[in-house]
Amino acid sequence: MTKKSFTIAVLPGDGIGPEVTAAAVTLLEQVAKQSDVTFQFTYGRIGGCAIDQDGTPLPEETLQLAKAADAVLLGAVGGPKWDQNPGHLRPEAGLLGIRKALGLYANLRPATMHPSLVEASSLKPEVVSGVDLMVVRELTGGIYFGEKKRYQGADGAEVAEDQLIYNEAEIERILRVSFEIARKRNKRLCSVDKANVLESSRLWRKVADRVAADYPDVELTHMLVDACAMQLVRAPKQFDVIVTENMFGDILSDEAAMLTGSIGMLASASLAEGSFGLYEPVHGSAPDIAGKGIANPLATFLSAALMLRYSLGLDAAAEAVEKAVSAVLAAGHRTGDIAPDPSKAIGTAEMTQLVLDELAKQAVAK
Ligand code: IPM
Ligand code: MG
Repeated sequence: MTKKSFTIAVLPGDGIGPEVTAAAVTLLEQVAKQSDVTFQFTYGRIGGCAIDQDGTPLPEETLQLAKAADAVLLGAVGGPKWDQNPGHLRPEAGLLGIRKALGLYANLRPATMHPSLVEASSLKPEVVSGVDLMVVRELTGGIYFGEKKRYQGADGAEVAEDQLIYNEAEIERILRVSFEIARKRNKRLCSVDKANVLESSRLWRKVADRVAADYPDVELTHMLVDACAMQLVRAPKQFDVIVTENMFGDILSDEAAMLTGSIGMLASASLAEGSFGLYEPVHGSAPDIAGKGIANPLATFLSAALMLRYSLGLDAAAEAVEKAVSAVLAAGHRTGDIAPDPSKAIGTAEMTQLVLDELAKQAVAK
């Protein structure tokens, strides 16, 4: 039997990005060894490293490489070195550019409380234990991509403008993705907006109500974004799937992430129409710990699991990776970001090996 082959574009980026993506590549190689698939890895630059070497945060070559692949695995971008650069020469512009260029409009950010990490959360165990929610963030519209302007006002003072635009089609497609996800989970979808103030939110709500008619099995509720920020820390277990626009989703997904104790554990998927997607840990480049071999690779492993599931259709392999991560945590192994006793923290390489060993015990193929 010929092995099924997938091409994965790896974009390590900056800070701890190269360390955690290298660890995830060894994990995927192990998945291949245990199953009937092969992976071909291609490598490109994005973010600060691309600014330094190519003069742009998103070289054309990287975009071509990503387009030619079945999925993209990204580390992280950014660092103090490029913080003073103008907007178009900041590492973040690479990330925003690739989202737009590849049409990655649906950003999935699951926040799941691992039972063995309840103590790592800053909230009370009874509030966070059992939290299992998914933030679906619209990723290619809204205020992030509206027109930006700087000019001199009539009184001579400087003025800045950021435009927030959504059209019906953009709202409808992200709502549909969210309803489909809710359907496969606990069938509850909370659409978050600021409809008491923003016109774009009033359109959002109208479209959400219209789309809901096609999903009678899913319960749709609406919540204002400020109330949602409050409810997330007060009673997070009330949420199953949250769908919201780009900037609200940026903020709420960080808040949801922290419920689980460490942003070092959180995975994300950014999906286009069809099965193509970009997968990245939520944590960012963490320049303060870059190159020290202490970064937590688990968020990238869990992102790789999302990739196996959503882009490659390898559900059994995805589950095996998730189980391996849970088993290692249950056995008490911790990197520095989640270790209650820092003297017992292990590094990236050791954590990676432990997960590989657990994976070796799992059935990866269907
Ligand atoms: C994220 C990040 C990015 C965003 C930044 C780095 C541009 O915060 O992915 O959540 O705001 O989308
Ligand atoms: Mg963010």
